[in-house]
This record gives sequence, C-alpha cells and structure tokens, in this order.
Amino acid sequence: SYRLEMSLKKVLVVNKSYPVAGLDILKEKVQTTVLQYLDYDPESLPEIKKNIKGYDAVIWNTKHHLTAEILDLAGPQLKAVSSMSSGLDHIRIEEVQKRGIALGNTPNVLNNAVADITVGLLIAAARKFKEGIRELESGQWKYGVQWSLGLDIAGSVVGIIGLGGIGQAVIRRLKGFDVARFLYTGRSDKPEAKALGAERVPQEQLLKESDYVILACPLTDQTKHLINADTLKLMKKTAVLVNIGRGGLVDQEALYDALKDGRIFAAGLDVVTPEPMPKDHPLVSLPNCFIIPHLGSATVKTRNDMASIAANNILLGLDGKPMLFPAY
Ligand code: DGY
Repeated sequence: SYRLEMSLKKVLVVNKSYPVAGLDILKEKVQTTVLQYLDYDPESLPEIKKNIKGYDAVIWNTKHHLTAEILDLAGPQLKAVSSMSSGLDHIRIEEVQKRGIALGNTPNVLNNAVADITVGLLIAAARKFKEGIRELESGQWKYGVQWSLGLDIAGSVVGIIGLGGIGQAVIRRLKGFDVARFLYTGRSDKPEAKALGAERVPQEQLLKESDYVILACPLTDQTKHLINADTLKLMKKTAVLVNIGRGGLVDQEALYDALKDGRIFAAGLDVVTPEPMPKDHPLVSLPNCFIIPHLGSATVKTRNDMASIAANNILLGLDGKPMLFPAY
C-alpha cells in the first residue's frame, strides 16, 4: 500500500536546525535522518558526501552547492530534492533534472518578510543609520541642522529589478510612502504591474531614473554582476542601491569604489559575497554601506512555512506527484 511503501522511504535533512514544523510532517510518513550540522558549517559538506548514499530524498537546507558529484554519491534511487529557500542558485538544476529527480523550492511564503526587510534596508541606507549608530556608539553624536542628512522617499522614483512576488510586496508597502513613480525591469511584462502602478522600462532607463534601485531577482548566469562598474555609472549620484536577491548580482569591488567615491549615495544589503562576510571586508568598513546578515526570510513563521513546504515537496515528489513549487 501507499502508506507502507512511503514508510520505507528514507529522507535526509542536511541541517540540524531545520524547523520542527517540517520535521513533524516528514517523520509521520517517512524515515527521516537529520545530519547534525548547520548550513554554514564547513564540515557539513564532507559529512553530506559521506552520508548521502542510499537516500530516496533530500532536503537540501544548506548553502553548499548541490553538484553532480553529490548527486552521484547519493545514487540512482534518489527521487526528490527540495531546497528550503526561494533561490535555487546553489543547486545545479540541470544536473538534478537530467537524473530524473524532482526538484522544488519554497517561494511566496517569504515575500512579506523579505519585503519588510527591503523597506528597512532602504530607509536605513537613505537615512544613514550606520553612520549615525557609529557616531552615537563612539561618542561622536553632534546634532546640527546639517548633520547626517539623508534622502526622502516621498516624491522619489523607485526601480525594481525583478518584479516577482517579493518585488510586488515591496511596491505594496512603499505605496504608503508617496513614491512618485515605480519602474521595473524583467524578461516579460508582469500582469500584476498595472494594478501596482509600475511601469516596465529597459534596465538602462531604470538605472538612470531611479532614486532607489532594488535588486529582487534571482541570481543566474544572466544576472550575475548586473550591478558593475558600467551600470553603476548610469546611476544617480544620489541613488541608493538595495539588494535582497543574492550577493552575486553585484560586483562588490565596483560597488565599493562607487560608495567610497560618493558616485552613489548609499547601499543597503541583505545579501553579500561571501556569506558569512568577514568583519574586515572592505564593504563593512564603509559608513554608507548598511549590511545585515541575510535576514530576509528570518522570521519564525516564515521559516516554519518554508520548512513545511519543503517537507510537502518531498512527500509529493516521492509519491510521483507534482511538488507544491516545482523547479521545472
Ligand atoms: C531564499 O529563500 O532564497 C533566502 O535567501 C534564504 O536562503
């Protein structure tokens, strides 16, 4: 029977902090093993390689890359893989697909949490939170009419690169801030854009006209370093760059130079390269580069929802049914 067949399936979860909300769903139906390492632990990669053989499904809840080598180590019985993330840039999708393995991710449930963080970054960067906090903490608080002046959101042009679920949630939030115009770029017209009052424009125009440039697209071969020395030159001197996608969207050396020389006003980053970023990284030293450590989806509810979706992706995949969010 289905239940008996399912109960013999072996699922590997590669992260000891994978939420109970997902574990409970799995444990009720399948044999579940949790690797006792955290997603960033360097030792977890050799442990994954040593242990992955023979599993029918894997929750790939780690920053390590899922490669052909690891898929081969797992063996031909592997039928289903789910990330616990919206982004799949750490997974060699074509390698998974070519082995006939179902692959899923966990988008949508994080849109609100990530959009909240996006607005937070935008305000923090535009209003010089980092500079202000540094001065406060070092006893340099010197209030004056010309001290620590930032930029307004009201009347501004906000450009969103990638109008997916997150970008749309960002616009819904910023609607309350009296933004003058919303622009977006993307491979195609988004039907939702009309109701949101967002206008699709070429990337060059968006970069030239936006006061706030928000990166909300996935990292792919096409989007890697889309912010670079050339595209930074197109941006306004008063522009603020916000990145909630992936660090790889930005050429960080070029960004460093632009921020250092005041060629753009500030940046607010939730994602950087590498993660974790070392504290002596040049970007960390810049007062106009406000960085938070990849907190976008880090709320209790969002992470529980992501874990539940990952678990259900796996159960559906093992059952030969379409996953909740299939990658192909
Ligand atoms: C995502 O879901 O892609 C977030 O960045 C967490 O990894």
